[in-house]
Amino acid sequence: MSKTVPVLTIDGPSGSGKGTIARRVAEALGWHLLDSGALYRLVGLAAAQRGMSDAPPSELAAMARGLVIRFLTDEDGNERILLDSRDVTGELRTEECGRLASAVAVLPEIREALQAVQHGFRKPPGLVADGRDMGTHIFPDAQLKVYLTASAEERAKRRHKQLKDKGIGVSLAALSRDIEDRDRRDSERSVAPLRPAADARVLDSSKLTIDDVTRTVLEWARETYAAG
Ligand code: DC
Repeated sequence: MSKTVPVLTIDGPSGSGKGTIARRVAEALGWHLLDSGALYRLVGLAAAQRGMSDAPPSELAAMARGLVIRFLTDEDGNERILLDSRDVTGELRTEECGRLASAVAVLPEIREALQAVQHGFRKPPGLVADGRDMGTHIFPDAQLKVYLTASAEERAKRRHKQLKDKGIGVSLAALSRDIEDRDRRDSERSVAPLRPAADARVLDSSKLTIDDVTRTVLEWARETYAAG
C-alpha cells in the first residue's frame, strides 16, 4: 500500500539548506515530512543518556528499535520532538548531538534498524524525505529526487551566521575546514555514502535564495506528480 504513496526525496550535505526547503515544500504540498537526521540524532542522544555509546552495534540497534519517538507541532506551530515522552527538541540541535549522531550513523546495524522507522513515514497524501540517503537507499522508487548542494565556502558562511546569531563566535576558516573534512568523510564512508542518486536532479543553492530553491523544487514536483 505505502509504495503507492508519492515520495519526494531531498538529499545533500549539511548547510545546503535542505532542512528548510524540505519543510517548505512539505507545507506547500500538504505532505508529511521526514527529517531523517533527527532520527540519527535521537539514537545518538539516547545511547549517550543510557551510557551505551560504546555498546556493541547489535545492542545499540535493539535500543534504537525500542525507542518511542514522536514528532509533534505545538500550539505556536513549532515542531517538537519527544523521546520516550520527554521533549528533546533543543538537545537534538546541539553540535554535541550532531557528533553523537554521526558516530551511530556509520553503523550498518543502526541504518538497518532505522529503515523500517523511515518507511513508516510514507503515508497519504505523500512524503517529503530529507537526509543523506533518501533517494539512494531508503526510497529508491521516489518519483522526484532532489540533490541539494552548495559550495563549502557558502555553507561555512551560512553556518557562521547561524552561530553568530546565537552569540557563538567561531572563525570562518575553521568552519570551512570542518565542513570540507565532514564532506570527505560522508562521501567516502562505505555505508550509505553521501552522493546523488543516478536519477537525482542536482540543484546548487550557492547563489540562490530559499524562495528560489523552494519555487524550483515545487515546479519539478508539479511536473512530476501531475504527470504520474
Ligand atoms: O542532517 P543532520 O545534521 O541532522 O544529520 C545528523 C547526522 O546523521 C549526520 O552525521 C549525518 C547523519 N545522517 C545520515 O547518515 N543519514 C541520513 N539520512 C540523515 C543523517
